[in-house]
Amino acid sequence: MDGRDLVRSVKAIGSAGAAQGLRTVRAAWRRRRTDASGLPPRGAERARVPGPVRDAEPGPGGGVVRFNRSALRITVALNGAVFWGWDGVGPEPSYGLANPCPEPDPRAVLEPDKDGGWRVVAERVTVIVSRHGAVEVRTPGGVTLRRDLPPRWWEPVGGGPARWMQRSEVTADARFFGLGGRACGPRLRDGTYRLWNTDPGHPFGPGDDPLYVTMPVQLVVADAATHLAFHDTSWDGTVTLREGEEGAGSGHDRAGTCELRMDGGPLRCWVMVGTPARVLLAWASLTGAPALPPAWALGHHHARWGFGSEQEVRRIVSGYQERGLPLDVVHLDIDHYDAHQVFTVDQDRFPKLPVLAEELRRDGIRLVSIVDPAVKAEPGNAVFDAGVDGNAFVRDAAGRLVRGVVWPGETVHPDFTHARVREWWGRLYAERLAQGFSGFWHDMNEPTSFAAFGESTLPRSARHSLEGRGGDHREAHNVYALCMARAAYEGLRELAPQERPFIFSRSGWAGMQRYGGTWSGDVATGWPGLRASLSLVMGLGLCGVPYSGPDVGGYDGSPSPELFLRWFQLGAYLPLFRTHASLRAGRREPWEFGADVLEHARVALVERRRLLPYFVTLAHLARRTGAPYVRPLWWSAPEDRALRDCEDAFLLGDCLLVAPVLDPGADRRAVQLPRGRWYDTATGQAYEGPAQVLVDAPLSRIPVLVRAGAVIPVRGDDGGLELEVWAPARGRVGGGLVVPDAGDGWDEPEIERYVARWEGSRVVVEREGEGGVSEPPHPVRIRGLETD
Ligand code: GLC
Repeated sequence: MDGRDLVRSVKAIGSAGAAQGLRTVRAAWRRRRTDASGLPPRGAERARVPGPVRDAEPGPGGGVVRFNRSALRITVALNGAVFWGWDGVGPEPSYGLANPCPEPDPRAVLEPDKDGGWRVVAERVTVIVSRHGAVEVRTPGGVTLRRDLPPRWWEPVGGGPARWMQRSEVTADARFFGLGGRACGPRLRDGTYRLWNTDPGHPFGPGDDPLYVTMPVQLVVADAATHLAFHDTSWDGTVTLREGEEGAGSGHDRAGTCELRMDGGPLRCWVMVGTPARVLLAWASLTGAPALPPAWALGHHHARWGFGSEQEVRRIVSGYQERGLPLDVVHLDIDHYDAHQVFTVDQDRFPKLPVLAEELRRDGIRLVSIVDPAVKAEPGNAVFDAGVDGNAFVRDAAGRLVRGVVWPGETVHPDFTHARVREWWGRLYAERLAQGFSGFWHDMNEPTSFAAFGESTLPRSARHSLEGRGGDHREAHNVYALCMARAAYEGLRELAPQERPFIFSRSGWAGMQRYGGTWSGDVATGWPGLRASLSLVMGLGLCGVPYSGPDVGGYDGSPSPELFLRWFQLGAYLPLFRTHASLRAGRREPWEFGADVLEHARVALVERRRLLPYFVTLAHLARRTGAPYVRPLWWSAPEDRALRDCEDAFLLGDCLLVAPVLDPGADRRAVQLPRGRWYDTATGQAYEGPAQVLVDAPLSRIPVLVRAGAVIPVRGDDGGLELEVWAPARGRVGGGLVVPDAGDGWDEPEIERYVARWEGSRVVVEREGEGGVSEPPHPVRIRGLETD
């Protein structure tokens, strides 16, 4: 232990209570000892590069190009995605991919290229392999979007996983996005980003990296096309990004670069090329469609660590009801557990939870339960006993149970990378359903195990099944939460087959959208935290995870009334709209910040409820197309460079442009508008884009603009569906999609398509169907007429 470790352990003891503090010191030592004996020492390594090309063998969708010291497998899939894998590796097994892996495109053929290289020409991309093993992905027009230089491996002389490094170049104008949930984005500036799911251990701000959800997924936006690159390996690693620079017509552009260094795992990659929408569609077809949340999960959620009793829950709910404030979901945190033990209830403080749940449900309010993966390591704890009997917990290399420390004290951790363990864990949700819970909030699943020093997770040498292949935590760590989400999702599908599972998880990996969403985790209360909230939601959406949102108001401390309000106003337009805070934080109920904040928060809540059918439509579209609800402004115009750099506003679906207030003291703000006419929804004023405009942003609202011609499904005063239609610009036609939804269940509603057009001095709205156009089956309200 060095001096710094000592200081950290003393601090840990001080802040977490003496017994827990001592446990974290012991756990840190234990972790260090386990790894010292369980991991091979890092000895001499031998470097390797592919060497010169030898020959090639065509196969379906591509083939294998052989080099002196490696072989490169290339396949173009039917969905247009390109796969390549060094050392002959194929796409499977993979935790990222949804089954089954897409079929190869039989039209894509491997053929000799000039200078001894090879190429695969497909409909939407051309892949060129140089004779030294550089791989270029080009558009059909011949523009090189990405050039992956020959990789380099370092192989332990005594055998074992090889480290590897690969540099890639992108065009000088390209911008990087993605890599999971990053607080400093959404545009990823020059720097090194780690790929290791991490609980920062304190409320985080834009400077904290990595966070809970990391993914080797880059979305690269450039003039020529957008592409997504997925390096399908779950090991620890880093990505170093450097944006390029254009030589202002001098012809001396400097390419953007990306350098991936991984501690192990296969060197393989998927690349998808096209418009952002096309790329996300291919991504969803590869890694799975985003799960559809039940409609109630698109309402307003109120959470808190430390309600502490049924009475307090009732007091909060009445607070909403008495003030006529919409509330859809209440979350119970670990304080409702018996001594912090998962799948238990503190019977003294929550003696009649099913009754409470039933009463709330009658008022249209659902209950969501936190679920932590760590199980208290104590005989007599039913989950522990059953898990020990079923050999469900992670063990070390010597076969001993790995003991960590989480909220209940000493803990063991299910090995979710084993199908049998997932099935067992999934069945445990029956207890939660019996308590009346409707949804699940997965936490501490990076996985986190408190440690006074060193990393706050399981030992790297901890053994995992990895679906029977066997391996250790170095490979399993980043997919631990993904597998936990799968366990819950599949369990709930069995236990409550009529309902759509609602799961959101603090940690995860590529493909997590198949099971649910995520949230910011413990974002620091402060204006930088507010900005980080938006960055996370946008970045995750571009990695295929469309459902997320922050802890509104920030996790710790006490926001000023203004900060709370601005956060609330932003949250109202994000998929997960949830107020949450720590045990030690100040109040977060909208009425705790004075009469003005209450009135303005009410407006945000009422508007969210009015927009619910629009959110439901966006959820369906996300499932069908992979398009996130929250999109950067460049979504439909990635070639517009001013939009590419704009990070403080977003598109909500096709129709709305939301410009949150992210700074104190503002009463108006600049908004970068994409092409076309936009109306300020509050004033009706019309603006023509592309342009930068200054719009009013009084405390009572954040600017929300709507695209001319938009058809938006909203909830009418009687609760029925209505169409809000904004007049198209003269001479133009508008339209929109509406997915009417029963709120839950698995019926496939038919997508309704509407067109809005001018007829003389009127705007008419028609539904388009196979048999022609018809009257909309919903009431229609036309807006934006006063400006023409
Ligand atoms: C973690 C979660 C937070 C939760 C707390 C107690 O810090 O991120 O949301 O309130 O644990 O369960």
